[in-house]
Amino acid sequence: MAKLKVAVLISGSGSNLQALIDMCAKDDAPAEITRVISNVENAYGLERAKQANIKTTVIDHKKYNGREAFEEALHQVLDSDKVDLICLAGFMRLLTDGFVQKWRDRLINIHPALLPSFKGLHTHERAIEAGVKFHGATVHYVRPAMDEGPIIVQAAVPVLPGDSANDLGARVLEQEHRIYPLALKLIAERKVRVSGEKVIYNGVENLDTASINPSA
Ligand code: GRF
Repeated sequence: MAKLKVAVLISGSGSNLQALIDMCAKDDAPAEITRVISNVENAYGLERAKQANIKTTVIDHKKYNGREAFEEALHQVLDSDKVDLICLAGFMRLLTDGFVQKWRDRLINIHPALLPSFKGLHTHERAIEAGVKFHGATVHYVRPAMDEGPIIVQAAVPVLPGDSANDLGARVLEQEHRIYPLALKLIAERKVRVSGEKVIYNGVENLDTASINPSA
């Protein structure tokens, strides 16, 4: 089966990108990252991509007149690479409904919370403030509404007494680095499909543990 061609969109450090790079570097990996695109020129994730010999492109949103023009530039690159799937990995721009619909079920995101709780920013602070006992991370297909869409994989972590947002964020990030590559692998192996706005698995062993706190 041909490898799934993946573009990863970033704005920052790219630690999730690194987890995806590491998965794709394995001999039998079902996916390859064809390009990393950043809207921020000095994003550290670009260095990570270069070290892995992955093509990089900077598309600075500030240089475009509006979201559509920015996204047109994105499309040109994505189309010329014949990308199958886009992974958002700490990409800090909202995408228009038109972009999201064009890439429907071919566009995924990682969010540092157990969706549908704590959409948006500052999720770790808000989880502590709300007093929840479990927090976590979610990989999901993207829909026009922010941080909504069929859930592919989630991992939960405990919120411990005395946790700072940094403590909790580090615990969540560790899980992000496990579940994002797993979700990409499941998609690339064609083991995931969307039906009725829910994710259905095909041919996944250990179905009970595949999507809930999965081992990598
Ligand atoms: C992660 O917490 C991710 O869930 C969120 O943005 C952060 C990006 O971190 N969407 P990194 O750039 O992957 O290190």
